This record gives sequence, C-alpha cells and structure tokens, in this order.
Amino acid sequence: MGTRLLEGKEVADRIRKDLAVRISALKEKGVVPGLAVIIVGDDPASVSYVTMKGKACQDLGMYSLTVRKPADLSEADLLQIINGLNRDPKVHGILVQLPVPRHIDVGKVIAAIDPKKDVDGFHPTNVGKMLIGEDGGFLPATPYGIHVMLKAYGIDVAGKNVVVVGRSNIVGKPMAAILMQKGVDATVTVCHSRTKDLKAITRQADVLISGIGKPLFITADMVKDGVVIADAGSNRIDDPSAKKGYRFVGDVDFDAIKDKASAITPVPGGVGPMTIVMLMSNTVLAAERSLERQGRPKV
Ligand code: GUN
Repeated sequence: MGTRLLEGKEVADRIRKDLAVRISALKEKGVVPGLAVIIVGDDPASVSYVTMKGKACQDLGMYSLTVRKPADLSEADLLQIINGLNRDPKVHGILVQLPVPRHIDVGKVIAAIDPKKDVDGFHPTNVGKMLIGEDGGFLPATPYGIHVMLKAYGIDVAGKNVVVVGRSNIVGKPMAAILMQKGVDATVTVCHSRTKDLKAITRQADVLISGIGKPLFITADMVKDGVVIADAGSNRIDDPSAKKGYRFVGDVDFDAIKDKASAITPVPGGVGPMTIVMLMSNTVLAAERSLERQGRPKV
C-alpha cells in the first residue's frame, strides 16, 4: 500500500507565508505582534522548545521576549511577571512553558494569564469556548495543528472513528473537543492509562492520534490496515550510534507501522512544526484582535 507521509513542515511553510502577509499588514498599522514565553527551570526539552518558539517569532519578524527564571522562582513572583506582561502593550501572547516546578500551582498560573493573551488556549475561559464551539478564544497549538494538517492533506474525519491516546490538557482533551465539534463530526474515543484492552479500541481507529508521551508505545498489532496516524509524541531515547548519544522518537513505532498505515506523520517533521506555526498564528490573531479592540469606541 502506498503510505502518505504527512509532513507538517510543508503545511507549516505554507501557513507561515500567509502569516507573513498578515504581519506586514499589522506593521503598516504600527503593530508588531509580540509573544512572551516564560520558562521556569532548565529542563533541556523545555529549553529547546522555548528556543524554537523564540526563533520562530524572530524569523517572522515578530517581537519575541523570553523570560528565563530559575527553578526556585516563587509562585508569587511568577504571578507578578504574568501581571506585568498582561499590561504590556507590546506583548499580545503570553505562554508559560509547562511543566512548571512542583511548588507552583499550574492552575493558578494559567488562570492569571489574560484570556485575550492566552495563545496556548489553556485558560479556563478559552477551554470553555473551545468546548462549546464558540469563536473568540484560542485553540491549543498541538491539536489545532493536527486538525489543520489533516484538512490540508484532504483527510476528512467526519463520521470516522478517531481514537485519541492520552488525555492531557495539552493534547488529548483539546484534540477530542476539536474533533467532536459540529461541522468536524468525528466519532471520538479517548483512551488513557486506565483504559482496558487498549488494543481492541485502537484497532477500531480509522484515525489514531497519540499524545501519550511514551516512546514507540503504539505498535503495529494495535492498528488496522489503512489507518491514518498523527503522532504528537516527541520522546528522547538513548542512542549510542547518534552523534549526541540520543535521538527523538514518537509515541508510534513508525518503522513497524508505516507500511500498514495509509498516512502517517514522521517524528521529527510531522506534528512538531505544526505546533510552532499554530502558536505563531494564535499570536498574530491576538495582535489583530487587540488592534480591533483599539478601533472600537469605548462604551
Ligand atoms: N509543554 C509541552 N507542550 C506545551 C505547549 O503546547 N505549551 C506550553 N505552554 N507548554 C508545553
């Protein structure tokens, strides 16, 4: 069977071109879209994601601010930083890289971000809007990117059995919310660590989306022929043959499954590039909305 490689990088390149047009239109009106990223601690994976996000902003000519703080930053100090960014007119999007150290209450941190600047789409206001299908919020970048990528490749999920593996607030739950909306119309099943007979469920999937964060967890016997797979996992594994001594693999055993699937995302180069570009897209949208609000007469 000819397997299609779903290269998020290609779709992301096209989206970046559209964003460049919107960014220059904003600049003509005196607005440079700005994203502030806060990172607490020095987890290597988080540092690398944050670096990529900053670079993506700069490549698009956006304003990028990275706030790096040590792991012992107090919760109160983090909330104060967020408050300052909420008031900063140069900043249209604010993101706190997760996870944060255990002494910090992540719920309090997310709730402190102005929902109008919550380009991660993690604030309860934006999660609520997503769930009820209301416009005006932000969709979380990874599931949003997967949805956009599937559409770009002409993969229609309406009426299909879509199985989401993982129930995180970052991938699994928002993915399910997006796909079950009226107009998208997938039949969604969410599986997680307590799911019984996972394989019996994943084998029903027309489309399987994994965001469980376990390297090579989805094996060939867990999927049916012709399945479409989007792999949001990016897991570091030791590999003495690699230059750095490690490499990144997805949640899905790509090599074993690729001939069975009708379409599959590679890792890297699949979902990852879509996540970054949708974050940029949300930030540009936040800047456009802020301009619109300025234009509106105060009542
Ligand atoms: N950590 C892993 N993925 C994400 C993400 O999409 N946003 C934030 N803020 N942290 C993350």
